[in-house]
Amino acid sequence: MSSLTTTQPAKGLEGVVATTSSICYIDGEQGERLARERHLDPAIINLLQTAPKNITPMDVLRTAVSALSFYDVDQKNNDHEANIRKAIRLTSQIAMIVAAYDRIRKGKNIVEPDRSLSHAANFLLLLNGERPSGTAERALDIALILHADHELNASTFAARVTAATLSDMHSAITSAIGALKGPLHGGANEAVFHMLQEIDKKGVDPVEYVHGQLAQKKKISGFGHRVYHTEDPRATHLRQMSRDLGNSSGKGKWFEMSSRIEQFVKSEKKLNANVDFYSASTYHTLGIDVDLFTPVFAVSRISGWTAHVIEQLDDNRLIRPRADYVGPAYPQHYIPIDRR
Ligand SMILES: CC(C)(COP(=O)(O)OP(=O)(O)OC[C@H]1O[C@@H](n2cnc3c(N)ncnc32)[C@H](O)[C@@H]1OP(=O)(O)O)[C@@H](O)C(=O)NCCC(=O)NCCS
Repeated sequence: MSSLTTTQPAKGLEGVVATTSSICYIDGEQGERLARERHLDPAIINLLQTAPKNITPMDVLRTAVSALSFYDVDQKNNDHEANIRKAIRLTSQIAMIVAAYDRIRKGKNIVEPDRSLSHAANFLLLLNGERPSGTAERALDIALILHADHELNASTFAARVTAATLSDMHSAITSAIGALKGPLHGGANEAVFHMLQEIDKKGVDPVEYVHGQLAQKKKISGFGHRVYHTEDPRATHLRQMSRDLGNSSGKGKWFEMSSRIEQFVKSEKKLNANVDFYSASTYHTLGIDVDLFTPVFAVSRISGWTAHVIEQLDDNRLIRPRADYVGPAYPQHYIPIDRR
């Protein structure tokens, strides 16, 4: 008990420093290695083909990533070098899985990867069956960079907790995908677009709609952040991208709607847009289906997750915090049922 911290942690571990980290270094050499790893075992393709058609791509991704470990040559090897190989492999494979499943569920053929293309361009090729325009490639590339890592967010923490038990890379990433899926984390980008679609379908004024939601004490997806109290710098870039892509594609209404909501929520609730708010209209304008928004987040965040797992394992200690006991007075004595 003597090692127990006496400071009361905030609910949701707000502001608690749970680890040290020196991540966020971009290695240009990895590009070529990513291209070399553009390969999925036929058993994984089979898994995607036999998955029920009514489940979300995010659920398919979670299960497929877990299954990737069966066919990974480094499956039983948890050392630093093997984990770097697995990280690069997973980064290529996750993009391929997201694109392949989308084509399979739409009854389309699976597209062969092009090893001469960038990661972003190859992903769009696998998804759409044609080489993307320079504008689309650059937009997705920027979006992938913006989402690549973000300190100890919920999914990264989940990955580190799993890795710290000396489990393996695939288990850690499966944990992370499960955490990313929730609408308070990565799932928020899909929730934002569902809101925009509902406003559009009902033909209501966006500000009135959001006003009504707030009056019912509902949270508006894409706003608020545990750490940022100023604007999330990623939102600054995504707002610009959403505006530019909207203007150049003739689908500017999503940006206009988003912008009005943003101004209202800011003035009414003093809440800033976060990374998920403008990524929704950006991805839609790029032609990406709504239920692929969070998987596309994973296509990017895999780089951060794997880097954190490697960092964790390079200097590992089990992550096992304590809970502040607030139950009935302790110790309690057992009372046999017939005397209660
Ligand atoms: C991100 C989020 C989970 C952070 O949660 P948190 O740090 O626990 O913050 P809280 O939920 O305690 O919010 C603090 C206050 O702001 C309000 N608030 C926070 N986000 C809000 C939102 N999106 N819409 C409306 N009100 C919000 C809360 O109701 C609370 O108000 P109160 O003090 O009057 O009760 C939260 O802002 C949220 O749910 N946002 C929407 C989902 C989202 O976009 N997630 C992606 C994050 S990158």
